[in-house]
Amino acid sequence: MEETTMTTTKPNILLTPGPTPVPPEVLEIMSRPIFHHRTPQFRSVLKQLQEGLKYVFQTKQDVYTICASGTGGMEASIVNFFSPGDHVIAVNSGKFGERWVKMAQAFGLKCDVISVEWGKAVDPIDIKKQLDAPTGKDIKGVFTTLCETSTGVLTDIKAIAQITKNYQALLIVDAISALGGEDCKMDEWGIDIVITGSQKALMIPPGLAFVAASQKAWNRAKDANLTKFYLDLKKYQKSLLEEDVPFTPAITLVLAQVEALRQFKEDGYDKVIHRAKKLAEATRKATQAMGLKTYSKAPSNVLTTIELPASVDGSKLVKMMRDELGVTVAGGQDHLKGKVIRIAHMGFIRPQDLATGFKIFGEALARQGYQCDVTKAVEQFKNL
Ligand SMILES: Cc1ncc(COP(=O)(O)O)c(C=O)c1O
Repeated sequence: MEETTMTTTKPNILLTPGPTPVPPEVLEIMSRPIFHHRTPQFRSVLKQLQEGLKYVFQTKQDVYTICASGTGGMEASIVNFFSPGDHVIAVNSGKFGERWVKMAQAFGLKCDVISVEWGKAVDPIDIKKQLDAPTGKDIKGVFTTLCETSTGVLTDIKAIAQITKNYQALLIVDAISALGGEDCKMDEWGIDIVITGSQKALMIPPGLAFVAASQKAWNRAKDANLTKFYLDLKKYQKSLLEEDVPFTPAITLVLAQVEALRQFKEDGYDKVIHRAKKLAEATRKATQAMGLKTYSKAPSNVLTTIELPASVDGSKLVKMMRDELGVTVAGGQDHLKGKVIRIAHMGFIRPQDLATGFKIFGEALARQGYQCDVTKAVEQFKNL
């Protein structure tokens, strides 16, 4: 077994599935003096934002920017397109699927749950079965998650969209942790509502949520009568027509997002998605090289969930990696607490960050008595 050689200076590397590191050019833009938003200068910024967002969403629809974390975007997709008592289904395969269920119930929707074992992806056929059931005729929405961040599982949204487009139900996709890192073609696949957040593959700090809706969804919005004010997308729609915003926007974050999306477009959609895929593959190989297993049965390209040896206390490991060794990863949630770690490889996370991350991971494991060959793991990130 190889000994891990530690450098004397502590790194400062963020490998959590949100927030993620921010490119230096974006950080520089955020340090510039603030200016007013009811100005031609900001109108031009809004135009660029819209173009960048349409590109990453792969849609011709307008994309609305809300000053909120991703959950605000999820809420907007309920209050603008549904009414109390509407019958919907939600896929629950982890913490964020569970959030759909709780949110739908909080707004008085009649929510049937498709429960999926953690670590597995929903079988699209199970959604079709619900829609075809005698009780399924009135289903108005199917709530899903592109990448279930609590498990690292990727949902086959393309296959689900093939199904839902033949029904009245809207397909709503929480793409908060994955848009910009996983393929998700809103128009081509026929997704009705896509939601994402700024702090993951979109490479800026937390604070913005983005929502886009299909024509089918907008037709539904006409009758949707849930109470809303700040999240009323019709206000955002009306303002956008006048190249304006309904409320004071997070100007600095908007500027940051424009630059991050410019970089995304400069690299190109396919290339960025491919890069995340390569990093994900290398991360899984590195995991294997350390004698460990990937938790997810349908692993995503944006994060990897790694099962820890039974002898290791995952909560202590995460704390040690962060506080003593300078690498922040996420721990497990709910029953996975202490049993897994979650490592992101999306957005501005580079191969060298993951190489250092794995070196430190090996060091932390060794401190808890689990010895493994970290050299082979680190090698996986060479020449990417
Ligand atoms: C898939 C998914 N959905 C929803 C959320 C919630 O987003 P936020 O914490 O930005 O409100 C997250 C955040 O981690 C997520 O990963």
